[in-house]
Amino acid sequence: MLFVQGGASMQFAMLPLNFLPAGATADYLVNGAWGEKAYEEGAKLGQARVAASTSADEYRRVPSAGQIALSEAPAYVHITSNETIHGVQWHAWPDVGDRPLVADMSSDILSRPLDAHKFALIYAGAQKNLGPAGATVVIVRQSWLDNASKAAPTMLRYATHATTHSLYNTPPVYAVYLLNLVLEWIEETGGLEQMAKRNDLKAKTVYDAIDGSGGFYRGHAAPADRSQMNVTFRLPSEELEKRFIAEATAAGMIGLAGHRSVGGIRASIYNAMSQEGAAALANLMGEFARKNG
Ligand SMILES: Cc1ncc(COP(=O)(O)O)c(C=O)c1O
Repeated sequence: MLFVQGGASMQFAMLPLNFLPAGATADYLVNGAWGEKAYEEGAKLGQARVAASTSADEYRRVPSAGQIALSEAPAYVHITSNETIHGVQWHAWPDVGDRPLVADMSSDILSRPLDAHKFALIYAGAQKNLGPAGATVVIVRQSWLDNASKAAPTMLRYATHATTHSLYNTPPVYAVYLLNLVLEWIEETGGLEQMAKRNDLKAKTVYDAIDGSGGFYRGHAAPADRSQMNVTFRLPSEELEKRFIAEATAAGMIGLAGHRSVGGIRASIYNAMSQEGAAALANLMGEFARKNG
């Protein structure tokens, strides 16, 4: 387990710099904006290919098993476990055989139990479920790390951080300290099983408000692939969306505007959001639909 800096965005480059040697290919399964970015960076630094994409479907779902066309022996297969902007989440990992699986878990790490052994590498910017921005967590399989390229700049080699216990240069001490407090809070709350229960209930509360609105709210993601962390939906018009956001803000609910690239509404209900918060949003949605539907 490593603590590095540069956010998840730097991992988009660090991964191929360490694990995509010349002559090899990396497969990317793309189902949203962050997977696109990871792929583009991989393609800049080596031979990356999209082994499945749901862009034609406006990123409403993860690729189906039949849609995934993996290389015979890719350097790795990259997925984004939760697409923060589109609100689409992998609920069962894709079957990649013995190919090394890599996941960007920035927006759902520690939201549910995780068997990290399935992954050659996991990375996550801290600022959703772990702590403040500034620390980035990497979990890498030791045997895979042993095969990493030695050519990357020192600070961009995973091995540099592994051999120095993440103390090669001055670490973001305060961010790591707060991250530790968050881990203690998760343990005290009952661990990842309990996080998953809390998150299931919160997500159900908001999705029920969408599904029970008689079509006033339209969820972006296909129901089977809905994110437990980012609930994305539209109202009948942009005008109503603006009013909804204004009423929510007046009621103390902030940050509900969808990402600028997709518009609409996005309710981010990370680990730190309470059930009361999710219920307050669902209530507001019900009232707003009754008044304006
Ligand atoms: C899934 C995912 N990957 C990558 C990023 C980029 O993270 P950072 O801002 O830490 O570079 C984000 C940020 O929202 C994200 O949600």
